[in-house]
Amino acid sequence: MSNAERTILVFGATGRQGGSVANALLEKGWSVRALVRDPAAPTSMALGHAGVDLMQGSFTNAEAIRAAMRDAYGVFSVLPGDMPDGEEVRIGCAIADFAVESGIAHLVYSSGASVGETLTGVARFDAKPRIEAHIRDLPILATIIRPMIFMEMLTAPRFGLNQGRFTFLLKPEQSMQLIAVSDIGRFVAAIFADKPGFGGKTLKIASDTVTGGGLGAMLTEAAKRLIVYDRFPEEVLAANPDLAQMAESLEDGPLAQHVDLDVMREMNPQIVSCRTWLAGAGRSALLAALNTDPGQGESGA
Ligand SMILES: NC(=O)c1ccc[n+]([C@@H]2O[C@H](COP(=O)([O-])OP(=O)(O)OC[C@H]3O[C@@H](n4cnc5c(N)ncnc54)[C@H](OP(=O)(O)O)[C@@H]3O)[C@@H](O)[C@H]2O)c1
Repeated sequence: MSNAERTILVFGATGRQGGSVANALLEKGWSVRALVRDPAAPTSMALGHAGVDLMQGSFTNAEAIRAAMRDAYGVFSVLPGDMPDGEEVRIGCAIADFAVESGIAHLVYSSGASVGETLTGVARFDAKPRIEAHIRDLPILATIIRPMIFMEMLTAPRFGLNQGRFTFLLKPEQSMQLIAVSDIGRFVAAIFADKPGFGGKTLKIASDTVTGGGLGAMLTEAAKRLIVYDRFPEEVLAANPDLAQMAESLEDGPLAQHVDLDVMREMNPQIVSCRTWLAGAGRSALLAALNTDPGQGESGA
């Protein structure tokens, strides 16, 4: 059966990950369906114009989800980052249950790269591993992806670009992996194209490896002005448990365990380096971050 004859239902298609997945699947000739809350919203209309079949509904509407999964071959599941913890687990598990009930051939769930082998005991960090565990227990062929930190995070106001600095969690010589959101869709398209190869697997996905000092140099080059890299002071980390947890993970936890970029490149030959992203897709966000009024409030990464 050709891709065009098989439908993949994409959740969150008006958002970053889902939008990237919908676009990449369309590029590969799949038939793409999206469950959207507001079909008249500009982001939904843009999907419709690109060829996505829109169905109106919400994560909390069982009948809409069942209808959207009818006759579908695959499902891409991703949940927003700002859900209450219990809600994220409940909905993430329910979507997987509906996929089983609907006879979906391949489920891809987007988890997070900070998920480790053990639970942390903190509900907000444990929602994704709980959904992963539920999916592994179900009678369905599933692939779980764990995207590394988004490149899009680099331009968040809280890191100080508008003051000529990039203050983050790495020591200058320490490295981390990043992923361009546009690559997430291309990795997912490669996964749907190879069910025997990726079915049953859990894999981190990444686009590039950078060091703290290297980021300073790349940001300086892209901004055409000096951007000094530094690390959040210890007292800032001590006062912010979320930042501290991420710093620890980058130092010797799950975020320190890097993926082989050659394997990534085989899956996605168009992989986007951080330098390329800063000069291309990320350029307008970078310019906006450089020129943000330092007096303005911050928004999350
Ligand atoms: N690795 C990283 O650096 C990183 C960074 C940020 C986030 N994340 C993870 O990425 C995930 C979020 O993905 P994202 O960034 O692609 O999300 P996003 O851009 O915020 O998009 C969220 C999507 O979910 C849809 N949605 C929200 N509530 C809904 C509901 N009740 N019913 C149906 N659809 C609903 C939104 O639709 P509307 O258009 O209707 O709002 C939108 O399409 C989270 O798990 C987060 O932890 C990772």
